[in-house]
Amino acid sequence: MLTDNHGRTISYLRLAVTDRCNLRCFYCMPEHGLDWLSRTELMSNAEMLRICSLLVKMGIDKIRITGGEPFVRKDIMELLTSLSQLKGLKDLSITTNGILTAPFVPQLKALGVKSVNLSLDTLDANRFFTITRRDEFDAVMLTLDTLLSHGIEVKINTVVMAGKNTQDIPALVALTKDRPVSVRFIEEMPFNGEGHDYSGVLWNHLHILQEIKNLYPDLQKTTDTQFSTAYNYQVPGHTGSVGIIAAYSRTFCGTCNRIRLTPSGMLKNCLYDDGVLNIKDHLRAGTNDEQLEQILLKAFNNREIDGWAAAEKRIASPNESMASIGG
Ligand code: GTP
Ligand code: 5AD
Ligand code: SF4
Repeated sequence: MLTDNHGRTISYLRLAVTDRCNLRCFYCMPEHGLDWLSRTELMSNAEMLRICSLLVKMGIDKIRITGGEPFVRKDIMELLTSLSQLKGLKDLSITTNGILTAPFVPQLKALGVKSVNLSLDTLDANRFFTITRRDEFDAVMLTLDTLLSHGIEVKINTVVMAGKNTQDIPALVALTKDRPVSVRFIEEMPFNGEGHDYSGVLWNHLHILQEIKNLYPDLQKTTDTQFSTAYNYQVPGHTGSVGIIAAYSRTFCGTCNRIRLTPSGMLKNCLYDDGVLNIKDHLRAGTNDEQLEQILLKAFNNREIDGWAAAEKRIASPNESMASIGG
């Protein structure tokens, strides 16, 4: 088992495979996009596979592929295929916006992909366009249906935004009535790439919960798994469940089991640190696996216990985008 200097298990890698995206969600990046990484700045599949295979040997048993949008990477299925064969990896999951995903669902199922988290902030096509600045609502809904018909576990990620989609909360909760999905409402964090206002303070987890309880006073709390980011609930009689992720007002420091790799190969010990080590540079400099393992262990022995201090620093530099962090 891999542990850090505070005795916390490290078992979950969030691997952001690209900063690029085919949407422009206003809470994530500006209309004109980001200053995209060049091909050589991105990690190659071979590099990602090498580092993942070492991390799995060291004790990582869950990898979530994020971005940007993972499926804009043309070679994503090759990477997923290789990762799915790593011995010791128990959970290979993906977070996607669902635009290009539907045709790959049968292959994802065959590879044993455990769960797909789908970003979907509204069930109204016009509001979808306002929020994402792209007219792709139908493609996302097709992905949702295809995932469910293939029996892949689906969580819907809905970022709650004042004045943008709070009117969608009832319809999104209602989605759980007949579908086995978990709809998770997320406090908006200040990573929108252009430093504009965000809703995390106003629409915090308590406010979101109250809004749902106003609709369903008999909403029941269910058990949360050990490393869950969400507080989970269920409307009695509904097939699916509802979650609330206090991504802004809380940190998960006490039980944080996760590390991150950014698309340019930076290792992040915490969502809020600036990156503690560029692994890609080490790989390209010819560092062997034994050396790399020592370098990683040293980094894992320097993890912060209190993300808040770092968080304050980050919030003071709000031009960062979630797409270059990986969520
Ligand atoms: P599961 O594997 O289903 O538990 O996924 P997850 O909730 O870890 O990942 P997902 O990619 O679906 O992210 C959901 C939301 O949680 C996103 O808004 C993430 O940015 C946020 N999130 C994930 N990890 C952290 C974290 O360590 N701290 C904070 N504050 N937010 C996080
Ligand atoms: N605040 C909260 N969540 C965000 N995401 C992207 N940007 C933000 C933000 N500013 C979410 C997306 C995606 C997940 C990885 O992160 O909805 O589902
Ligand atoms: Fe793309 Fe996800 Fe960012 Fe939206 S939130 S622009 S889908 S990376």
